[in-house]
Amino acid sequence: MTTTLPDGFLWGAATAAHQIEGNNVNSDFWDSEQKQPGMERSGDAVDSYHRFAEDMGLLAGAGLNSYRFSIEWARIEPAPGHISLAELAHYRGMIETAQRLGLTPVVTLHHFTSPRWFAEEGGWMADGAIERFRFYVEAVTEILHDVKWVLTMNEPNMLALMTTMARAMAGARGEREETEWMSPTVEGDARPVLPDPEADVARRLVEAHHAVRGIVRERTGAAVGWSVANQALVARPGGEEKLAEVRYIREDIFLEGARGDDFIGVQSYTSQDVTAEGVVPHPVHPENTLVGNAYRPDALGIAVRHAWEVTGGVPVMVTENGIATADDTRRIAYTATALEHLFGCMGEGIDVRGYLHWSALDNYEWGHWAPTFGLIAVDRETFERRPKPSLAWLGQVARDGALPGVPVSNH
Ligand code: BGC
Repeated sequence: MTTTLPDGFLWGAATAAHQIEGNNVNSDFWDSEQKQPGMERSGDAVDSYHRFAEDMGLLAGAGLNSYRFSIEWARIEPAPGHISLAELAHYRGMIETAQRLGLTPVVTLHHFTSPRWFAEEGGWMADGAIERFRFYVEAVTEILHDVKWVLTMNEPNMLALMTTMARAMAGARGEREETEWMSPTVEGDARPVLPDPEADVARRLVEAHHAVRGIVRERTGAAVGWSVANQALVARPGGEEKLAEVRYIREDIFLEGARGDDFIGVQSYTSQDVTAEGVVPHPVHPENTLVGNAYRPDALGIAVRHAWEVTGGVPVMVTENGIATADDTRRIAYTATALEHLFGCMGEGIDVRGYLHWSALDNYEWGHWAPTFGLIAVDRETFERRPKPSLAWLGQVARDGALPGVPVSNH
């Protein structure tokens, strides 16, 4: 297989503020962590709020040329309408540090978490929610003038699901019901498949994306998009009709929302079958990952082709792909196979602009600490960083523009 990588192809790693920064006390997720008995707390996380330069230095030193991170709305706007200039300066410092190190920043404006006050107002379904988001985004554009890649939102389909579940927990009349909290990303062996997001929530998030897309473009000149949790759903015989139905509400409505964007962020981990009854839960299997997913590195190819088709040819950036495993050799094997599938897509003519691995660091996996996705391990008491062999491996792939043994010409 020989594929030509485009100039400026991004090779990087991705993170999200709440999962690595620590003490994100003003956010809605922090609030839930204190209230839900089933959740582990993020606490200090891995203190990347203070150690971001060290983290970025490790990525750049290994050979990567990009870093995706998110800006935390709850820090920028701790109270409605109050913008913290000091926090804007903090994130501007992150952008400049990345640039100084030769890492192209890919900036996410919203990665699952919102300010606690926003949730208390009713969250995404409240009147005025879009205005609130627009105000925050306008404030943040002040520090993005030389940023080339901006994601308005991370995985609106997972956010829609989280919003749907939160609504169900609050009950129709706003009373709290005895429903147990379920992590959006970690599957237990016995867990039923997650519910579909509600259509009105999905539509609201598409509206939010469209409301800020132009603002970011005009004020920054960045390429603007959002990222979707691509589920690589595949029909078993007889499941074709059901596939079309579940895929629309879980994924395609958000991919359609990306038509007219500058790029689509593809985020792929695994694949699932669909029968006439619905999505088939991941069968219990010794090869399942630490979040209960089937080991399916080929999912990336399915995801990229599907995103390309539904968006009508919007350029693709792989903004997340990785595996929760304690065995770093498996991480390398998974990533190598996923990249072979990605190169296969590029060989077919799909326009792919970069590959950002999830994740730079072992981090807080939305209620759990056990699933480790990182290229770098962290001692959560001393905060010492320990790069894993997979970081050097991915850095070498980035330097060569090719997988070991697989010639890929770079120009
Ligand atoms: C999210 C990340 C998460 C990852 C692994 C994606 O759903 O964007 O925040 O940690 O998948 O589960």
